Amino acid sequence: MYCTKDHNICFILCLWQVTNMLKTVFYFQCILFVQTGLFSVTTQQCISRDYGNGGTVCVCNATYCEFLPKIQPVDKARYLIYTSNKAGLRFEKSEGSFLPEQTTSKTKKFYVYTKEYQEIHGFGGAFTDSTGININSLNEGAKENLMRSYFGEDGIEYTLARVPIGLSDFGLRDYSYAESEDPSLKNFKLAPEDFQYKIPLILKANELAGHPIRLIGSAWSPPIWMKIIPKYVTLFGTLKSEMYQPWANYHLKFLEEYKKNNITFWGITTGNQPTIGYITFNIPGLAMGPVQLGRWISQNLGPTLRKSEFSDIKVITLDDQRIFLPLWLVDMLLFNPGAKQYIDGIGVHWYLDSISPTLDLDLTHIFYPDKFILGTEGCRGNIPFEPDVSLGSWQRAEDYVKDIMENLQHWVTGWIDWNMALDLVGGPSKYNSNADSPIIVNKTAGEFYKQPTYYAMGHFSKFVPPGSKFIEISQYELSKTTVAFRRPDGGIAILIANTKDYDIDVAIIDRNKNRGQINIHLTRHSLSSIVYW
Ligand SMILES: *[C@@H]1O[C@H](CO)[C@@H](O)[C@H](O)[C@H]1NC(C)=O
Ligand SMILES: *[C@@H]1O[C@H](CO)[C@@H](O)[C@H](O)[C@H]1NC(C)=O
Ligand SMILES: *[C@@H]1O[C@H](CO)[C@@H](O)[C@H](O)[C@H]1NC(C)=O
Repeated sequence: MYCTKDHNICFILCLWQVTNMLKTVFYFQCILFVQTGLFSVTTQQCISRDYGNGGTVCVCNATYCEFLPKIQPVDKARYLIYTSNKAGLRFEKSEGSFLPEQTTSKTKKFYVYTKEYQEIHGFGGAFTDSTGININSLNEGAKENLMRSYFGEDGIEYTLARVPIGLSDFGLRDYSYAESEDPSLKNFKLAPEDFQYKIPLILKANELAGHPIRLIGSAWSPPIWMKIIPKYVTLFGTLKSEMYQPWANYHLKFLEEYKKNNITFWGITTGNQPTIGYITFNIPGLAMGPVQLGRWISQNLGPTLRKSEFSDIKVITLDDQRIFLPLWLVDMLLFNPGAKQYIDGIGVHWYLDSISPTLDLDLTHIFYPDKFILGTEGCRGNIPFEPDVSLGSWQRAEDYVKDIMENLQHWVTGWIDWNMALDLVGGPSKYNSNADSPIIVNKTAGEFYKQPTYYAMGHFSKFVPPGSKFIEISQYELSKTTVAFRRPDGGIAILIANTKDYDIDVAIIDRNKNRGQINIHLTRHSLSSIVYW
């Protein structure tokens, strides 16, 4: 370098030289990162948007969406915390080391114990016609990002999904798989909706997950010729007595047809909301009382399925509001004790939980300890006077969390959300059932919005895999919004929601593992998943 006379020039030249060197090093590192895959799309950040509803959504399109890599165990001395909150954090990761237990500090302490309760089946959503219509309205890239968001290894890893057997109130038309009257069901065939909106997406979900999603089929209504009043939507639209066996065969045929398309079901419910036809609303249904339903299960559905190639399928009854428990089951089994052997589980819906004491669930578990209880449907935005869709609402995420946690604290083994994707007005729904969904699709923009409820579901589904056991954790003030699990890989997952308007400092002490103490600062209106091994 020519630096003898003018020191200023020398300095500038020097700086220029050094900058160039740094640039070279930087570029070289960039190339290295790209080649080693360290710069992957999974590091993308949430593009947040505020619609003024008390929280934010994350915007995804064909080329951009944020993902969360699969959770990998860390060293035994360390723990991971993932936090989402009203202020906009989404699965924000931090890592720390256990500290020595501080017996004198005044921080609120959680104690984790070893006692195990129910085993978890998983979390998921539903493949309704409306879900398929909205997902298909996106181009290939955006569709891929949406499906990956739910089922991919770097998505929230849903493991359960409910599939309406034919029509539901979330679709564009009424239909059945046997339109002309024929109790032998010779003309049974799947509908165009199955081939457009359900089968391809289910196969895609299985492919992204790398294993089959556990599917649960639920029928809303039989073909109208099987009903006493031949309409999809009607008060007292119950089954003709000579149609009990054909209605069971109809379910079997459905399973067979899906199997021909490489899709096998894990479970089947005994019908969506059997009470709906008695207290009619304006949606398709089949009115079945507990005694009638018990007769159908014990004499028709049960034997038909157990004799078939699907003999292992989980039969889930009720599939309705938990307020009917435990009397529904007591009634059903008193008059049809034979139904008991065919029933594996009990499905409960969210909608009346605010007026249903949790004692309903506890008594059901005490009376029938060998039958699992599973949340089979829930959503927000379906109550009169509240908006159908509320983009970005953190309140709705907290509603989800509170209900899921309350259920898990009372023997429930998992929770299935309703529609996985709806449009900007919460549809389409022929029956104006419009509601909210964790993913809202804006077809004209080619975008979709991940709502706070998507992250609420993810804080469970991503961290609490099937086979996890519910375990005891104690903390007085936050007890309603805290749950803990022992994962199948030996790790402990703890979920804590702070639904208050102020931040809270807490400490976690695991009495079993005895590693010391985890100190956490819980920001106001936040949800954290804490994991250690
Ligand atoms: C997709 O989103 C990214 C990130 O917001 C943006 O840069 C890009 O322009 C969007 N693409 C389209 C086609 O809108
Ligand atoms: C089912 O899977 C088999 C084997 O992978 C494949 O050959 C066949 O095309 C699939 N059938 C359908 C309907 O997807
Ligand atoms: C949906 O996309 C259209 C077209 O880009 C845009 O005008 C509209 O504001 C978007 N709606 C919402 C709710 O973001």
